[in-house]
Amino acid sequence: MSKPKILITKNGPYLVTGNLLLNKEVAETGKSGEPEKWVETKKYPRKETYALCRCGHSKNMPFCDGAHNEAHFDGTETASNSLYEDEAEIIEGGGIILKDVPSLCSGARFCHPKGGTWKLAVKSKKTEAKKEAVRQACECPAGRLVAYDKETGQALENKYEPSVTIIEDPQINCSGPLWVKGGVEIESESGVKYETRNRVTLCRCGHSLNKPFCDGEHAGYEFDDGDESLKRY
Ligand code: FES
Repeated sequence: MSKPKILITKNGPYLVTGNLLLNKEVAETGKSGEPEKWVETKKYPRKETYALCRCGHSKNMPFCDGAHNEAHFDGTETASNSLYEDEAEIIEGGGIILKDVPSLCSGARFCHPKGGTWKLAVKSKKTEAKKEAVRQACECPAGRLVAYDKETGQALENKYEPSVTIIEDPQINCSGPLWVKGGVEIESESGVKYETRNRVTLCRCGHSLNKPFCDGEHAGYEFDDGDESLKRY
């Protein structure tokens, strides 16, 4: 079995190797009226290698069916390859330090409830605010937000099996990006490796201006991969 890895191909799909778990999760809206919980709705059969659509045109979602050729997909990678720590804005609270790289935002909105993660971080001397700020930061699929323990400086992260999750966002009737979890290596078309992180989101609608990462553009384009969950609203 080869090492878990995602290779970005030139104007083509993501080539996934290493028998990576592939599943689908739906962002469930909570009492706040914003997404609050990820619910798994599908597990795909394990495969050593597979190719995931990156252009948004496949008729066999989430897999590539070659549609990128006919669509003349321009998959040029435009993201900077700087380290998260070098880019992050810092919000210092009483209990946690919150770091934030806005350019990575995938628009998942788990940071909105209860005044938002930033305000909660500022109030994090209080146990409840700290708990909620950490929970919200951890649910941010893009890894835009990361909470750190104020005392130890340790990143407070959920533990994930290396995996890829197809995101669906029924509240805005829209399919979302690929949520890559658990430190999977991502290699650019040119052979350069992006920083390996516990959470990142990769664009699969084809419209991100920060390729290969999702920048939330899928919402404006109402990206629809045909998932059942989108018909509920
Ligand atoms: S999937 Fe989010 S911008 Fe393409």
